[in-house]
Amino acid sequence: MTSFEGLIRAVPDFPKPGVIFRDITPLLADGAAFARCIDAMAEPWQGHAVQAVCGVESRGFIFASALAQKLGAGFIPLRKPGKLPPPVMHADYQLEYGTDRLEARADTVRQGERVLLVDDVLATGGTLGAARDLLGQLGADLVGASVVIELLALQGRKLWPDNIPLHTLLHY
Ligand code: PRP
Ligand code: MG
Repeated sequence: MTSFEGLIRAVPDFPKPGVIFRDITPLLADGAAFARCIDAMAEPWQGHAVQAVCGVESRGFIFASALAQKLGAGFIPLRKPGKLPPPVMHADYQLEYGTDRLEARADTVRQGERVLLVDDVLATGGTLGAARDLLGQLGADLVGASVVIELLALQGRKLWPDNIPLHTLLHY
């Protein structure tokens, strides 16, 4: 039985020189390994009464929808700009050059709904921080966040508040 960690491919110098890209597609293509990954992501949140799992477009969707099914919860997409019909709310975050934005439907979260935030990678932490801000604007009760891969050198965890659980599965 291959560990799911063994199915994440390290690709040097992609998308630019000096960067090691962590390719999750071999993991996703292996049904048993993908299921074990979702089981491992779900484990810390069993018994936390999660009502909705919120995924960040694009790669976050893959894990969030599977995790929502596993936890018996709904799924909420946070989307890249211009994809959702109005009314939407948004949060901006910094990229290396410029900014980007996440959007959600303004009525997508019930007030006080217990939401788990999910993405594939924690790098600088900008994306996860914007997602947290947006869920706050929407009135969610943020139970925590679950991310498959944490890139330790980029210290994204420093941007995450200590009082909200952040679970990451694999560390590079
Ligand atoms: C990638 C990754 C995370 C984010 C992490 O998304 O999927 O969402 O970067 O980076 P950060 O912690 O520095 O913000 P990206 O939007 O690049 O690509 P995707 O559409 O394939 O998810
Ligand atoms: Mg992403």
